Amino acid sequence: MLGRVSLLPKSVARRSISSRRHASTKTIRDALEEVIPAKQARLKQLKTEHGQTVIGDIKVEHVVGGMRGLKAMLWESSVLDPMEGIRFHGLSIPECQKVLPAAPGGKEIIAESMLWLLMTSKTPTEAETRQLSRELAERGELPEYVVQLIDSLPQSLHPMTQLGMGVAALNKESKFAAAYERGIKKTEYWTYTLEDSMNLLARLPALAARIYRNVYNPGKPIPGVNKDLDLVGNYVNMLGYGSNHDLTEYLRLYIALHGDHEGGNASAHTAHLVGSTLSDPYLAYSAALFALAGPLHGLANQEVLRWQLNMQKEIGDNVSHDDIKEFLWRTLQSGQVVPGYGHGVLRSPDPRFMALQKFCETRPELLKDPVIQLVKKTYDVAPGVLKEHGKTKNPYPNVDAASGCVLYHYGLTQFKYYTVIFGVSRALGCLTQLVWARALGLPIERPKSLSMDVIDTLVKSP
Ligand SMILES: CC(C)(COP(=O)(O)OP(=O)(O)OC[C@H]1O[C@@H](n2cnc3c(N)ncnc32)[C@H](O)[C@@H]1OP(=O)(O)O)[C@@H](O)C(=O)NCCC(=O)NCCS
Repeated sequence: MLGRVSLLPKSVARRSISSRRHASTKTIRDALEEVIPAKQARLKQLKTEHGQTVIGDIKVEHVVGGMRGLKAMLWESSVLDPMEGIRFHGLSIPECQKVLPAAPGGKEIIAESMLWLLMTSKTPTEAETRQLSRELAERGELPEYVVQLIDSLPQSLHPMTQLGMGVAALNKESKFAAAYERGIKKTEYWTYTLEDSMNLLARLPALAARIYRNVYNPGKPIPGVNKDLDLVGNYVNMLGYGSNHDLTEYLRLYIALHGDHEGGNASAHTAHLVGSTLSDPYLAYSAALFALAGPLHGLANQEVLRWQLNMQKEIGDNVSHDDIKEFLWRTLQSGQVVPGYGHGVLRSPDPRFMALQKFCETRPELLKDPVIQLVKKTYDVAPGVLKEHGKTKNPYPNVDAASGCVLYHYGLTQFKYYTVIFGVSRALGCLTQLVWARALGLPIERPKSLSMDVIDTLVKSP
């Protein structure tokens, strides 16, 4: 395992890894070790040659407007273009779908191949992907004290609160925190951060599945981690839907696509900020999960389904476009947001929404589902209504407009749980960034805040 590797002389460590893997297959750590020096050199060059180069202006609207559009953060794994959507190390979603390996017997991209791409900027081979699945599965069981903690929580405690608590509690196991306490060199930080990140990613499915079991199916046995399955295959199995191949494929796609959305969104930024204090990955990601639990961010996927089901209840199955328009106006006039629409950066339909819609289009049973039809029909009219309403800068759907209805179709109907699935997914990007922040030696974050008095003074004499 990585942590043991970094504590042992390198030659011994290498032998112990290679005895457990195909001789010619790299681990994700090997792949990272290859790419880190070049990135470190590039950052050093940027700092020395362009440290004083101006790349944007700070306006009062940035300070009072949630820093929208302010270029103020380094995030390597993905970049979000307002019109085109997300690219992961330069690859668009359709390109990822072409080149990233799927699970055995599956077609959709999986968390492991996306993680490899995010971490290393390279496309993994099939063998590297399988090995990563194996490595995660081997680390996947929850420590008993975390099981006891989760089992002791009230059934009515929101699943996201439980997830954040479980992740924070895992920090008792942190290799980074233990090594830091012992005293390690800065150059070693990333190795222990990677070790913790791998353990955390590996354990998220068992943690999230235990929360699901406790809240919705108390007492039902949960299968152990199957070493031959990929991360999401195991997750779906532990949720109790392992025999549903289509749901498994959907969740593979959803979790891979939703893994990273550049750095400025609230959860990613929170993980980065907390991690910049050298908090361990468990604490940093737990903080991110509580940002994700807000209704303007990750909780939107539960809100979308609640809203669409209310629409269905009020209007019935046979809904016309005009009925939907009327319902949309009622939502807006009551001062609420239309969940699943709008975005802080995007100014066009979210390609993740389009990819999930495409998934539905290949399955006739999904196309017949009334809730999925409602989502599609809402997409036909909502941008027009939101444009007419005139407030939203982006009247188009984001990924959450589509994500819940497919889960609902396959019987995963407990929508208060949906953000937990997002929480399993977003760890891919947030933990990648933590590893890179330490490999690149990024400093603690400390932007300057201003009072209105100071802004007034600056405005008068900038
Ligand atoms: C995502 C979101 C938080 C982005 O917020 P933002 O960057 O401030 O968005 P905008 O700049 O377009 O907001 C301008 C105005 O339009 C409103 N607006 C934005 N999206 C809206 C929506 N879906 N429905 C109604 N009004 C919306 C905002 O509330 C804001 O109103 P205000 O001026 O009265 O404060 C926002 O679009 C939203 O609340 N969407 C619904 C929740 C959701 O789907 N979240 C998941 C995001 S991935």
